Amino acid sequence: MKLNVNGIEHQIDLEPDTPLLWVIRDNLGLTGTKFGCGIAQCGACTLHLDGKAVRSCVLPVSAAVGKKITTIEGLSQTGASHPVQKAWQEIDVPQCGYCQSGQIMTAAALLQANPNPSDAQIESAMTNLCRCGSYLRIKQAIKKAANA
Ligand code: FES
Ligand code: FES
Repeated sequence: MKLNVNGIEHQIDLEPDTPLLWVIRDNLGLTGTKFGCGIAQCGACTLHLDGKAVRSCVLPVSAAVGKKITTIEGLSQTGASHPVQKAWQEIDVPQCGYCQSGQIMTAAALLQANPNPSDAQIESAMTNLCRCGSYLRIKQAIKKAANA
């Protein structure tokens, strides 16, 4: 299979039902995408498929063939931080940090689809879990990025 990850084409030889998360982490070495629950509940494994946030722990790699995969490592293609990453730094969102790449990928997809979301729209889009409880700062950072 051919996979386009962060603008680079990769050729891989794997069972088609291998979860995309493990291909990204183990085969391609992009470890910014995290494993949390493995059952599409926590969002730690969130990446973008054609610009939409997906949970890669339950997505078979075959479903990503022919699509544009973006991981946290490729969110900013220009070398400068993505506006969501900048807002995250300014608000100092992370605590332990484990959930944060997934949070950022979900937030970036939300703002791509809806550049000025309401509180209710942020709450309904941001279903990623954070054991440290950084939810308030996540919401503040999304608003900051929306107004940047
Ligand atoms: S690891 Fe994928 S949703 Fe939790
Ligand atoms: S910052 Fe620790 S789990 Fe979210």
